[in-house]
Amino acid sequence: MYRDFNERKRDFISLEKTGSTNSDLKKMIAKESFPLFCVLSADVQTEGRGRLGRSFFSPDGGLYFSFTLPLSGKEENIPFITLLAGLATSEAIEKLTGVKTEIKWPNDIYINGKKLGGILCELVSGKSLTAVVGVGINLNITENEIPAEIKNRLTSFFIEKICPPEKNELCRLIVEKTDSYIYEGLELFSVSEKTLSKIRESSFSTGKKAVFSSDGAAVEGFVTQITPRGSIELQLSDGTVKEIFTGEIVQ
Ligand code: BTN
Repeated sequence: MYRDFNERKRDFISLEKTGSTNSDLKKMIAKESFPLFCVLSADVQTEGRGRLGRSFFSPDGGLYFSFTLPLSGKEENIPFITLLAGLATSEAIEKLTGVKTEIKWPNDIYINGKKLGGILCELVSGKSLTAVVGVGINLNITENEIPAEIKNRLTSFFIEKICPPEKNELCRLIVEKTDSYIYEGLELFSVSEKTLSKIRESSFSTGKKAVFSSDGAAVEGFVTQITPRGSIELQLSDGTVKEIFTGEIVQ
């Protein structure tokens, strides 16, 4: 039986500045000093973290928050948490701005071919299993602020000349939509065909040539599909298809 998470009243905590909201929530969970369902946001992060140990540029003018997803421990589709949070983010942005974004597998939110934000999902196992989902979206960041080494890859609503959504409204909607996929759809047991189609429709990576870095080795091919396991299917030049579960698309 799935743990009963029907009473999901969330506590919202906001800070002006912190190192990383993901790290803060992980520490709170380790000390068992956290409300089961909470959302922690900060105006600025000094040590914002991204996937694969990267740093996440988090100056004033962005939305940075993390929230807890208490799990039952029996989930079979953990890789899908990142994809579901990405889908929720993309849908929330579209609802509030009318603008469609894409998901670069597995965790980047793209607009006009550039990164608008990202998701960092980390699992914490203590007494029970909890996922900490961190979301960072570039709202009002200007081109001049972006460090030279990432300038050509990063964008913001401001740079794209799109009126950004209101920060708190966007945060609440992303959490609400992610909660609903995970607890109401119970998508962690088996992702529905409908949700999988939505993930596939918003994929930035499908159909594109991709150099994939996996376990230090470069694998090149065409991304053919996101699978029902949340992995990626890559068609290699000799026609064979390789399933990729983790790593990064370099394209
Ligand atoms: C990525 O680009 O690989 C993921 C970026 C995730 C950034 C968010 S911002 C809020 C939360 N706190 C962090 O330190 N990271 C996530």
